[in-house]
Amino acid sequence: MNNLCIVGLQWGDEGKGKIVDALANDFDLVVRYQGGSNAGHTVVINGQKFVLHLLPSGILRPGKLCVIANGVVLDPPLLLQEMDELIRRGVKISDNLAISDRAHVVLPYHKELDKLQEADPSRNKIGTTGRGIGPCYVDKAARTGIRVGDMLDRATFERKLRANIEQKNRLFETLYHAPAISCERILEEYLGYAERLRPLVCDTVGLLTDAQAQGKRILFEGAQGALLDVDFGTYPYITSSSASAGGVATGSGVSPKAIGRILGIMKAYTTRVGEGPFPTELNDDIGRRLCERGSEFGATTGRKRRCGWCDVVAVRHTVAICGVDSIAMTKLDVLSGLETISVATEYRYNGAAIARFPAGAEMLAKCEPVYRTFAGWTEDLSKCRKFSDLPSNARAYVTALEEMLGVPVESISVGSGRDDCVRR
Ligand code: GDP
Ligand code: IMO
Ligand code: MG
Repeated sequence: MNNLCIVGLQWGDEGKGKIVDALANDFDLVVRYQGGSNAGHTVVINGQKFVLHLLPSGILRPGKLCVIANGVVLDPPLLLQEMDELIRRGVKISDNLAISDRAHVVLPYHKELDKLQEADPSRNKIGTTGRGIGPCYVDKAARTGIRVGDMLDRATFERKLRANIEQKNRLFETLYHAPAISCERILEEYLGYAERLRPLVCDTVGLLTDAQAQGKRILFEGAQGALLDVDFGTYPYITSSSASAGGVATGSGVSPKAIGRILGIMKAYTTRVGEGPFPTELNDDIGRRLCERGSEFGATTGRKRRCGWCDVVAVRHTVAICGVDSIAMTKLDVLSGLETISVATEYRYNGAAIARFPAGAEMLAKCEPVYRTFAGWTEDLSKCRKFSDLPSNARAYVTALEEMLGVPVESISVGSGRDDCVRR
């Protein structure tokens, strides 16, 4: 099988962007299949940092065809801004980018609704990125959404936009006592964006079918992480898309049979942004140290990420639902200098051990992790390139995680740079 899917195994920010960039050279196409501008994927090349939100991370590799597929929710002004910024920095973006005509469009009222819902005391605050992701996927499922293809036809776009704004304004005015929004302004503004995007929009399902028929290799770039998956994550503290490997087929139109290998990305510890239960969270000096050494601040919102120990119960769950073949472990270098390192191996709930990751956030919030402790190391790992270069305690940590998860760790990332990696 020619294809590979990269998927986050925790609550996002595992280092997917770095791994996609590192592997993209071996593929012909790089495809984003879910999520939207809530993603922030960082790639560091020769000390230059790039943060990708909507563009596939493969855009930084010349000659790769990048696809924003149907499962993505696309924010036109943010995409254009991201493209302009990269072009200004010398990255080529033209016929190496294809945008699905089926992708749904994030509109200003989605972002407004996201903010109003987050501020609504009668609702659960999720701690969203405020990018309108949830409300846009709601419209998609409600069959009222506007797709990229609709935006290319003035009459269709105007008709659908008017109907949506009329309905959203009723919600704004009566439920939230917020000002109504004007259709005219949005219509003209977004028709302008549509003209700029028009040359890139196509039937990406057909494009991917043809690419497969020609034996081309596809790298699928997941956004978020499987613990934020709308079905299998820590509901309701999740995002609104299928962030586990199952999202590839529905989000791209590539058959589940053609997905090929699945590479799970796992940070050597755990982080989470926003609200929701996090059993191994560390609200102490170690947590602060992980945040500081790991520069754990959101690539999209700049928020401080919550930090904690690695959680094998949670990752065993995501490894299973994603069918992970192997793992790329990231940020092992951040653990250097800790006297001991802990890993949650099981949870206790109401005094009894539970083996499986709970379905609901309420139960997860009451789970107490049972830890296995490992001896730490003091060495700087950033120059390690072979497994044997790692200190023996670091090797023992990686090997133990592999055994507990039942999946091989094929690479270990030891820095943010493209080549800062131990391959096995
Ligand atoms: P993504 O959303 O999964 O692509 O991850 P983010 O880019 O949001 O967050 C990962 C952060 O860790 C970025 O700042 C990366 O540059 C950085 N990073 C990735 N791998 C490593 C690593 O092995 N070591 C260190 N120290 N930083 C890393
Ligand atoms: P990448 O691709 C980390 C989190 C938000 C919030 C929840 C819902 O960079 O790993 P949303 O705006 O999606 O409705 O927010 O999901 N979240 C992420 N956390 N990394 C991400 O993406 C995230 N995308 C969304 O913080 O808790
Ligand atoms: Mg990120």
